[in-house]
Amino acid sequence: MARTPRKKRDFLRLTDLAREELLGLLDRAAEWKLLGRGGPKPLAGMAVGLIMEKASTRTRVSFEVAAFQLGGGSVTISPRDSQLGRGEPISDTARVLARYLDALVVRTFGHDRIEEVARWADVPVVNALTDASHPCQLLADLLTVAERFGADALSRGDFPVAWIGDGNNMANSWLEACAVLGFPLRLACPEGFDPDPRLLARAGGRARVVRSPREAAEGALVVNTDVWASMGKEAEQAARAQAFRGFIVDEALVGAADPRAVVLHCLPAHRGEEIAASVLEGPRSAVFDEAENRLHAQKALLELLLG
Ligand code: CP
Ligand code: NVA
Repeated sequence: MARTPRKKRDFLRLTDLAREELLGLLDRAAEWKLLGRGGPKPLAGMAVGLIMEKASTRTRVSFEVAAFQLGGGSVTISPRDSQLGRGEPISDTARVLARYLDALVVRTFGHDRIEEVARWADVPVVNALTDASHPCQLLADLLTVAERFGADALSRGDFPVAWIGDGNNMANSWLEACAVLGFPLRLACPEGFDPDPRLLARAGGRARVVRSPREAAEGALVVNTDVWASMGKEAEQAARAQAFRGFIVDEALVGAADPRAVVLHCLPAHRGEEIAASVLEGPRSAVFDEAENRLHAQKALLELLLG
């Protein structure tokens, strides 16, 4: 018997959410945080699959726990323990897994690969990081901004953000957040390490790439960084360490920001490279709240897609 395709909604990039939906999701995430382990069970009887083609601590565990706390279950597979590692096409894997599971959360390399999963799987597909973007991390980061500066700051878009370092997947997702919410974003990247120019154009005049970390940090309410060599770029580590000299988020740089500024880092961090240990562990750092917020934000996301 032929199957009737199911209606489904994916979350492959932050701009898949309209502004009001994003603000509503973040309000709901704050409610889930207050509910803790309690609250409704919108995923009762459902199971979420995680396909992890790159390493993960936070994303994997926070999605598994989110599914569990929402009344559902989860299954995680990686190339090491599945036929993906032996070359089974992702299109076959996606179609098969969609027969067992109610959503697929995918961490992979090229963005085209997650788009292929989304094309073949007739269940919601969530981007758990690709080389191009990391939208789930942005949900947690924006929730952290709302906690520190109020939900109104998010809707007014009056929180200047500084991105210091690589124009990588995280920088791209900040550009998408800027396009949706309209806050000012300055990205300090060494020449040759700019974010996606199409996303920069889409964010309009509110986002700007500069070459000086100090220029980006001046007056910022959010100072944000990430590793210099993302997963898949490990072979470039030494060359990047040269190129990124001077791009460390240290106390002097944070001193140029607004005195109320908060420091974010998606983690894992390399102390003494992109961020000084004293900043990561210091009073301006919100990185462990940010990491916790992955759980609450993803509960709101799963509820939106499956509830
Ligand atoms: N921040 C983040 O995505 O962490 P993991 O790589 O541990 O999932
Ligand atoms: N930019 C980093 C983020 C890790 C969560 C990477 O892709 O490795």
